Amino acid sequence: MKVITNISLWQKTRQNLPFDKTLGVVMTMGALHKGHLSLIEQSKKQNDFTLVSIFINPTQFNNQDDLAKYPKTWDQDIALLEAADVDFLFAPCFDEMYPDDYRYKITENSFSQILCGKSRPGHFDGVLTVVMKLLQLAQAHRAYFGEKDYQQLHLIKQMVKAFFISTKIIGCPIIREEDGLAFSSRNIRLSKTAREKARLFAQMFHQNQPLEAIKAMFEQQDIEIDYLEAHCNRRFAAVLIDGVRLIDNLELKK
Ligand code: PAF
Repeated sequence: MKVITNISLWQKTRQNLPFDKTLGVVMTMGALHKGHLSLIEQSKKQNDFTLVSIFINPTQFNNQDDLAKYPKTWDQDIALLEAADVDFLFAPCFDEMYPDDYRYKITENSFSQILCGKSRPGHFDGVLTVVMKLLQLAQAHRAYFGEKDYQQLHLIKQMVKAFFISTKIIGCPIIREEDGLAFSSRNIRLSKTAREKARLFAQMFHQNQPLEAIKAMFEQQDIEIDYLEAHCNRRFAAVLIDGVRLIDNLELKK
């Protein structure tokens, strides 16, 4: 795997890839897990080359403490990417990615204002801006995003349409641990007792019950609710378990 931290070196590398070969990109903030690996697997199946980016994007964190606590597992990430036979790792620094110091940004003013966007003001401006930058740099044929961040996936799909970007955005199913908890980089931060609460969260969230009943179950387990809502035939939740923010979503049966 070629590790590239410099934008101009990546651009040269990209230019030198054979014209008739395809490139898939998987964008990450590191702390890689089986969810990321499933995106990489999908990219490898559908493309000749796979690029993974690792960039902990500060502009999508509205809370400095959350940014500081975001897990960083560089050596382990490299080992996982090598084992997954990824072709390129792009890991730029802030100054490379934001030569404008974030004076320019992408804002969506409808779906980004609810759910995660409501409780994390500016979050989706940061996400959409960095994803646009990475799409421009990658010049990939396909980009892979997990359905765990369903709101993010939907906003990226709409952004790509709005700005005539030719990269195809591919949504991939949520990968769960054996007990039903969705894989997330944040899971590493859960203590043993918090992990047990997280299991209950996932289990209760999936019950075929009205939202009010699920809310009551969360409250009974002392699970702090950020939101629990249904939109477009999908149920969404974000909760805080011992200060760790976990999200989940599922399609509702008709
Ligand atoms: O889903 C993530 O890990 C991030 O939001 C992304 C898409 C890599 C942008 O920083």
